[in-house]
Formats: sequence, C-alpha cells, structure tokens
Amino acid sequence: MSASAPIVTIDGPSGSGKGTISRAVAHRAGWHLLDSGALYRLVALAGAEQKLELDDVEGHARLAAAMDVRFGTEFDGERVLLGGRDVTEAIRTEAMGQGASRVAAWPAVRHALLERQRAFAEPPGLVADGRDMGTVVFPQAPLKIFLTASPAERARRRYNQLKQKGSGASLSALSREIAERDARDSSRAVAPLVPAADATVIDSTALSIEAVIERVIELGRRRALWA
Ligand code: C5P
Repeated sequence: MSASAPIVTIDGPSGSGKGTISRAVAHRAGWHLLDSGALYRLVALAGAEQKLELDDVEGHARLAAAMDVRFGTEFDGERVLLGGRDVTEAIRTEAMGQGASRVAAWPAVRHALLERQRAFAEPPGLVADGRDMGTVVFPQAPLKIFLTASPAERARRRYNQLKQKGSGASLSALSREIAERDARDSSRAVAPLVPAADATVIDSTALSIEAVIERVIELGRRRALWA
C-alpha cells in the first residue's frame, strides 16, 4: 500500500447509495475508486462459471487470489473485465449479489482479496466503497463514512434502478432479498457490516444524492483532504 495515498472509506448496506456517492466523490476529488463489492461478485461469477459447488470454500478462495481482474474506463463508461471478458452487466444481477454475499462470509475468500484491495491505494488518493473498508481493509483512513437508509427506501431505490434497466421485479421480493442480505452481512463472524468506531454515519433516507455528496466533500475539506 502506498503510504502517501490518502483514503476515504464509504461503507454501508446495499441500496444505501454508496456506489453513486463513492463514484461522485472520487470524480470530484480526481481520486481512484475501489468498488470492493465488484470483487466479491467476480468471485461468485467465476465460481458459477467453473461450476464450483456453492460451499466449495477453497475453490472460491483460489479464484479470489488468482482471477484476472481489470477495471477499465477505456471503453464506454466503467467496465469490469474478468480474464479479458467484459462482465460488467453479468456481475450486477441479483443472483450474483446473493452469491457474493455468500462467498464474502468465508474468511479464506476475504483474506485472498485483502492485499488486492489495498493495492488500489495509489496517489493522489482512493475512495473505497464496501462493507469493511473502514474497519478492516483501510483502518488508517482519515475519513470514514457509514452510509445508511431505511430498508424500505433501499428496496424502493433498487426497484427503480431495475425498472429503468427494463427488468421487472417485485418490490416485496426485493425487500425480502435486501433483508436477507443485510442479515447475512451483519451477522457473519468475519468483517461484519458495522460502522467503524471513528466513522461518520450519514442516513440518506430523506437526503438527495447531491446533499450526501456535499456532506462528504465538506467532511473531506475539514480534514484538508482536498480544497
Ligand atoms: O456492494 P455490493 O452489493 O456489490 O456487494 C455484494 C456483496 O459483497 C455484499 O452483499 C457483501 O456480502 C459483499 N461485500 C463484502 N465486503 C465488501 C464489499 C462487498 O462482504 N467490502
């Protein structure tokens, strides 16, 4: 890890707006972005493609350590490549979200991804989006945000997102899936979803995206992370 690269961590449950906020803050600051959830989704996808048993911990850990991943902006928008193949959409399905949440509960998989994640900390700085960025991966980060929103609001956001993409979904099924994923992410023994002791908690239920971005930018300014 580069000692000179400052880090802002943005953790929280799915649907809290982390992804959007992290991308916007990284863009405003001109910093790198780590979407750590994408790494867990890639492990789930690679495992499914290799037809690994769902409970094959070692097999998934091996993939986590060895998979050839590239995050590229050289194409149309931000793309995720696995072994040179564009899997940007393939990892975004609800099935891969559930699969990611399952493999993410295994210490061997988390361990295999640890150094890979730390390698993203390069100058001028890194915005790291995930569940354990502030607690485990970058405990030294000078600014840690924990972003939440009510479960109902998170299900509604996900529903609108899917509708925009033209895929149908039922709000009640989404609420159930979000509740299941929350329960698994928060109750696992390793790196559970909890705010770091020194994190600033922002509840985005009643806030616009712009308002949350402004809050984070202002917090970074106060810590002299940017002008
Ligand atoms: O954020 P995203 O929905 O892409 O994450 C997918 C899953 O990966 C989460 O539900 C969580 O179980 C896992 N994850 C994790 N630690 C991270 C990022 C994601 O356990 N830092």
